Amino acid sequence: MNEVHIALDERSYDIHIGKALLSDHSLLTSSLKGRQVVVISNETVAPLYLEQIERALVDYEVHTILLSDGEHTKNLNTYSEIIDQMIAVPCDRRCTIIALGGGVIGDIAGFVAATYQRGIPFVQVPTTLLAQVDSSVGGKTGVNHPVGKNMIGAFHQPQKVITDLDTLSTLDDRQFSAGLAEVIKYGLINDFVFFQWIEQNLEKVMSKDADALTFIISRSCESKRDIVEQDEQEQGVRALLNLGHTFGHAIETATEYVEWLHGEAVALGMVMAADLSRRLGWIDQADCQRLNQVLVAARLPVALRQPIDPVVLRKLMQGDKKVLDGSLRLVLMKSLGEAVIVEDVDNELIMETLQGFAG
Ligand SMILES: NC(=O)c1ccc[n+]([C@@H]2O[C@H](COP(=O)([O-])OP(=O)(O)OC[C@H]3O[C@@H](n4cnc5c(N)ncnc54)[C@H](O)[C@@H]3O)[C@@H](O)[C@H]2O)c1
Repeated sequence: MNEVHIALDERSYDIHIGKALLSDHSLLTSSLKGRQVVVISNETVAPLYLEQIERALVDYEVHTILLSDGEHTKNLNTYSEIIDQMIAVPCDRRCTIIALGGGVIGDIAGFVAATYQRGIPFVQVPTTLLAQVDSSVGGKTGVNHPVGKNMIGAFHQPQKVITDLDTLSTLDDRQFSAGLAEVIKYGLINDFVFFQWIEQNLEKVMSKDADALTFIISRSCESKRDIVEQDEQEQGVRALLNLGHTFGHAIETATEYVEWLHGEAVALGMVMAADLSRRLGWIDQADCQRLNQVLVAARLPVALRQPIDPVVLRKLMQGDKKVLDGSLRLVLMKSLGEAVIVEDVDNELIMETLQGFAG
């Protein structure tokens, strides 16, 4: 088992990464404060892994809340229903929430934990690669609003993250690749050596080799940790983690969140960010090709599936949460492995990039 420590004063915690961790009962129970536990999961993940969690919790008062599967459940209605159920129990302030599932479950369960009686403990048990390398790390929790994703939320750090590699055995290939987009992102932000490692070892990763998975998940968590520790509340450098996301969110919104998985949109978003960085003279065509190659090998998209009007995409980019005082902040690349936050990119260049991908 590998451990990544997140040092945030009294909010510090460990991420445990390894095989068969769900059978390690003390790993789970050592982080519980009181006797009450609420496990939040969904109809897809619960049949696969809930029993293992329940076995570890035989000495606890366990309440299980199962949501239907999908991003559409990540909203205030579901949030309210969970709170109602917890009040009906009633759950006290020492109750711990266990989030068993992908990023959707982690985000909503974390938001419930952040706000129920002004905050109760929670443990993340991420079961998608994306959740293991990204959403379970860093304490962002929240739900969507009809006008935009993650519009309502709070920062709330978990007590512990338990990443059992065995859960990836049931994850479908498309979801696995979507998680890889975020892994590749960490290499591009500030870790060229990691980017090269991924290029050279992608086959092992794609075959879910345990050592390769442990390495990429640990390195990704460390990478996110290093950034989050510097800037927990996203006042500055944490925005680097949004590489590919402003373009990506525009693609997801334009296609109404049904055609593109988040990680897929981030993959194409990174290709677009690379293209714009090339137009600014920071990276060259060979760098762009290198990025495309690794994404294609990870079975990720590097072009739009259907044409989207560049003007529509540009407008949607302006509506992104990352816009401050009307000014569009983009994360671009000075080189592969050196991302920067830029505010004053020439709009004509942005439009040239979007037109280049218009299809
Ligand atoms: N909080 C953050 O910092 C942060 C960062 C990135 C993304 N997110 C959020 O994460 C969400 C996306 O997360 P996701 O990609 O994990 O999606 P998801 O939670 O919807 O999971 C993807 C699919 O895989 C299924 N699944 C999960 N684990 C499985 C397993 N082990 N075996 C089989 N099926 C399994 C789920 O039921 C779902 O159908 C979005 O809502 C996004 O906004 C949050």
